[in-house]
Amino acid sequence: MTDTIAPILSADDIQRRVRDLAGQIDRDYEGSPLTLIGVLNGSFIFLSDLVRNLKTQCVIDFVAAASYGDGTTPGDLKLLKTPTVDIEGRRVLIVDDILDTGRTLALIRDVLREQKPSDLRICVFLSKQCERQADIHADYIGFDVPDQFVVGYGLDHAGRYRQLGYVGVIPQRS
Ligand code: IMP
Ligand code: MG
Repeated sequence: MTDTIAPILSADDIQRRVRDLAGQIDRDYEGSPLTLIGVLNGSFIFLSDLVRNLKTQCVIDFVAAASYGDGTTPGDLKLLKTPTVDIEGRRVLIVDDILDTGRTLALIRDVLREQKPSDLRICVFLSKQCERQADIHADYIGFDVPDQFVVGYGLDHAGRYRQLGYVGVIPQRS
């Protein structure tokens, strides 16, 4: 069955905003090298567009997080993949698709912190306007979006729609 997707961010708006964000990051890091850690799978398109607009020298790696157990208990989250590169003493920027409850990013931040980066910031493509369930702050945000289920530009619904160049809302069915 095909979902009806209502566009909320056009591909042009997204590309313009990603260029702005890259410019802001370039200015903030003032030429000091950066280690970008993308969160799989959702960040892959955002990260690839972001880095192609960055002038700052960077190393790119990925982490992956997943729920485990029967999935019924909040808190059952773990990292399936940790970074391969050494981040000790490095300036690290975590890049993710969307900040929702914040639980995933809080876990990733806490795990990476143990490896003693000199500086650790967070960049998200989208920030959902909802209540966070973790103490988390994103330093760079592409767009604020309403508390609805969004897809496209890396974000999926049951594995689909990641390849859309725009972002849209899937209307909630009751
Ligand atoms: P968290 O609730 O902030 O831990 O978000 C965990 C992950 O859920 C995000 O990185 C996304 O992969 C996924 N997610 C949260 N909200 C949405 C959405 O609206 N669309 C698609 N994926 C979402
Ligand atoms: Mg994700």
